Amino acid sequence: VPVDRIRNFCIIAHIDHGKSTLADQLLLKTGTVAARDMIDQFMDSNDIERERGITIKLNTARMKYTAQDGQLYALNLIDTPGHVDFTYEVSRSLSSCEGALLVVDASQGVEAQTLANVWLALENDLEIVPVLNKIDLPGAEPERVIREIEEIIGLDCSNIIRASAKMGLGIEETLEAVVQRIPPPNNTVKDPLRALIFDSYYDAYRGVVCQFRVVDGQVAKGDTVVMMNTGKEYTLDEIGVLAPVKTPVDTLYAGEVGYLAAQIKSVLDARVGDTVTLKKNPAADALEGYEDVQPMVYCGLFPTDADDYQDLREALGKLQLNDAALKFEPEVNNAMGFGFRCGFLGLLHMEIVQMEIVQERLEREYNLDLVTTAPTVVYKTLTNTGEELTVNSPGDLPEATKRQNISEPYVRLEMVTPTEYVGNLMELANNRRGEFVEMKYLTDSRTTLVFNIPLAEVVTDYFDQLKSRSKGYASMEYKITGYRVNELVLLEIKINGEPAEPLSVICHRDHAYRTGKALCAKLKELIPRQMFRVPIQACIGAKVIASEAIAPYRKDVLAKCYGGDISRKKKLLQKQADGKKRMKQLGKVEVPQAAFMAVLKIN
Ligand code: GTP
Repeated sequence: VPVDRIRNFCIIAHIDHGKSTLADQLLLKTGTVAARDMIDQFMDSNDIERERGITIKLNTARMKYTAQDGQLYALNLIDTPGHVDFTYEVSRSLSSCEGALLVVDASQGVEAQTLANVWLALENDLEIVPVLNKIDLPGAEPERVIREIEEIIGLDCSNIIRASAKMGLGIEETLEAVVQRIPPPNNTVKDPLRALIFDSYYDAYRGVVCQFRVVDGQVAKGDTVVMMNTGKEYTLDEIGVLAPVKTPVDTLYAGEVGYLAAQIKSVLDARVGDTVTLKKNPAADALEGYEDVQPMVYCGLFPTDADDYQDLREALGKLQLNDAALKFEPEVNNAMGFGFRCGFLGLLHMEIVQMEIVQERLEREYNLDLVTTAPTVVYKTLTNTGEELTVNSPGDLPEATKRQNISEPYVRLEMVTPTEYVGNLMELANNRRGEFVEMKYLTDSRTTLVFNIPLAEVVTDYFDQLKSRSKGYASMEYKITGYRVNELVLLEIKINGEPAEPLSVICHRDHAYRTGKALCAKLKELIPRQMFRVPIQACIGAKVIASEAIAPYRKDVLAKCYGGDISRKKKLLQKQADGKKRMKQLGKVEVPQAAFMAVLKIN
């Protein structure tokens, strides 16, 4: 297909507005995937994604489409992950496209994630084609939503596509719009090769498989290439297109999208955003926008059974081959023993990795029970000797007398809400140390609120609170903006007189008393009674600022069972045994997993 008949596009949408369903319809309509093969959604191919119903990892598909003008076109659909943790990957896949379908649910309207994605697409100069989805729903309000798109985003909606991905309506129109409204790639095939990697994953047979867009020049099987940012060199074993299964080809030209494999050992060597060029005729400059993404959230992962330590190390190592953003290093502490401190892009990324570890072990018929400590952001501190330290764990913080300050990451938080909940959300942001930036009435019924707010406040239960204070109608997005010095203190927890390092938190001085008190109360509730009295204290330095105590109690689960129902007794005993599994011994006290996460729920 000549370059003027190639279209590279992605679909951007708020979660659940129908991106995957529409993608499936496009694949079906173009005969790329047969209906009988469309078991579940093709674009959402990962189990964990399916379970959670959200798209995380990218998948591309090349479709062949004969348009109404009688010409055959190659349409490359590049899927984008739909979550704020993966904004960098989204931006790289957007920059591999010339256009984007903007899918908006006709019964909902413009949401925070819609906006965030649209701004990213506009930054990358994409042509945006709006698609109003779910027009079949009785609650659809196409006119209101069209007004929102016009007023908020400033898009011309006079020829907006009205679709129902579920019923297969508006699909042909969408394909025509891709052909007619999205520009073809520039023809720069004569320039030295520059190809942008927008996704890479590990495959046991081929090594790392990178998906890329040829921006300039051409690339062939057998070429020796250089990754311009990491400097690594490889000879290409295989290149091809995803149609949607891997189909090898000999050469790919400027404007095309494909994959490459070269027995690359780890995704760290072929990073998303890197530029591939030829060794024998290299490009002068790499493509813009490469970033070495840094973890924003850390937590400790500890096996409940110390014998599983090596297993956990192996599992993490394996995941890292496939996940350049995952970091881990060994950690030891008094309470938890040996484990790892792991860094993630955000809370969803953290959850995914944990699920992957457990899932991978289950497949190998191992049982790996993990205890996770509460996630914390990456603080920085300036020591008395003028050194800046990165603090991934509250336990790494130098003593108060040895440091000058502590700084924390801030984000710009954007919330989109029906106007009636503005008051509730203002209050929420204010309680979480948010600093009001602006409020914009999008339409007469919807408003965006913008705050500068510490990331630490957002990674706790902020999203849940936002949902509950807006009856589920508000949405949010955030972007890291930098570090700020604040009045932060280390709040330490002592259980039975022993410091429980994994429960320590860094918090604002003004919130320390409240947090300490709530944390003690929560722990009292979560830690089962023991044979002896267990004091729980929250301290700053040597000063105890809050305390509680768990009264001694002898737990006899069978006392509840009168009569001789043996199966019920067994069940109860089993339940008690299961509950014990995910416990950690802190000194003489057994502490359940939930306690380590208590700090997330106390605001
Ligand atoms: P993420 O993968 O999380 O980004 O969501 P998504 O945008 O891909 O949404 P998805 O395609 O999974 O659709 C979400 C839900 O909306 C599913 O239950 C779909 O069946 C439903 N849905 C999608 N399109 C339509 C439509 O046109 N009409 C109706 N009534 N439901 C639809």
